[in-house]
Amino acid sequence: MGIKREIESLPGNYQMSIDCLVEEAVEARALGIPAVLLFGVPNEKDEFGSGSHAHDGIVQEAVRALKQAVPSILVITDVCACEYTESGHCGIIQDGYLDNDLSLDLIAKIAVSHAQAGCDMVAPAAMLDGQIQAMRKALDSHGFQNLPIMAYSAKFASKLYDPFFKHGTQSAVSFGDKRTHQMDFFNSDEAMREIALDIEEGADIVMVKPALFYLDIVYRAKQEFRMPLAVYDVSGEYAMIDAAARMGRLDRDAVMLEALSCMKRAGADIIVTYFAKRAAELLRSKEQYGQAETDYDSQETEGMKIR
Ligand code: PBG
Ligand code: ZN
Repeated sequence: MGIKREIESLPGNYQMSIDCLVEEAVEARALGIPAVLLFGVPNEKDEFGSGSHAHDGIVQEAVRALKQAVPSILVITDVCACEYTESGHCGIIQDGYLDNDLSLDLIAKIAVSHAQAGCDMVAPAAMLDGQIQAMRKALDSHGFQNLPIMAYSAKFASKLYDPFFKHGTQSAVSFGDKRTHQMDFFNSDEAMREIALDIEEGADIVMVKPALFYLDIVYRAKQEFRMPLAVYDVSGEYAMIDAAARMGRLDRDAVMLEALSCMKRAGADIIVTYFAKRAAELLRSKEQYGQAETDYDSQETEGMKIR
């Protein structure tokens, strides 16, 4: 109770106990933010990441508390094992490698446990082969045919996630890296193939991650698939703007809104961002931002959803 620990590399962002999370969600909703994406920081980790699908796990409890206290906020859960495994990897390790098929079972279990807790949407983050299909099947067979899946479809192996691992969730990998399943940033055709596969397997929303350096992928994905498209404006993107602003080199609010607007322009329908609260504040009081009067009222940007 009462825990609100600032994340060192993401100033202005916090690890929170459930009571503080509920307060935060009330504030976010009041600002017009439609949804939150939950990540768990468990007390214990083990080889199999078993805390990830515990009935009384941290995310499961948080979902119940949020849906009860703030029913109008959409609760999305990040479905991955890396915060719960000793190795920090996104699934189960066998003989030094991530075992895709063993990990699929785990991912499906996590999704079902989040659904049973009452989440509105699941967001599988691991990029394991076949994870969307495995999850869809498991959800359907447990009576959650209508629960949507937002797939982290085009997720690049990026150093921009470091602030998240190092301080955000304390889930840095203990060996190796995630390049066996995340994509090489030189590839763009591969990203299109991954997105196509996820759509085929039943993804309702597809995602590109990170956002800013990858807007060519965002644009191309929107043009090619015409699917609801999310971008994840990751921790390193936040940290860059935040640090430069602290040094007096950049105008924090202006650069932030420019970045978010460009994501939208490239084709993002949904933006997952650590800037959500500040951006929502600014978008509400339009006079604070010169262009807002025209731009943010236009039909084209009407659907701008900052999360
Ligand atoms: C994986 C996950 C990661 C992030 C969110 N979920 C790390 C990864 O994909 O390797 C990174 C988020 C960020 O940097 O803001 N569960
Ligand atoms: Zn992971």
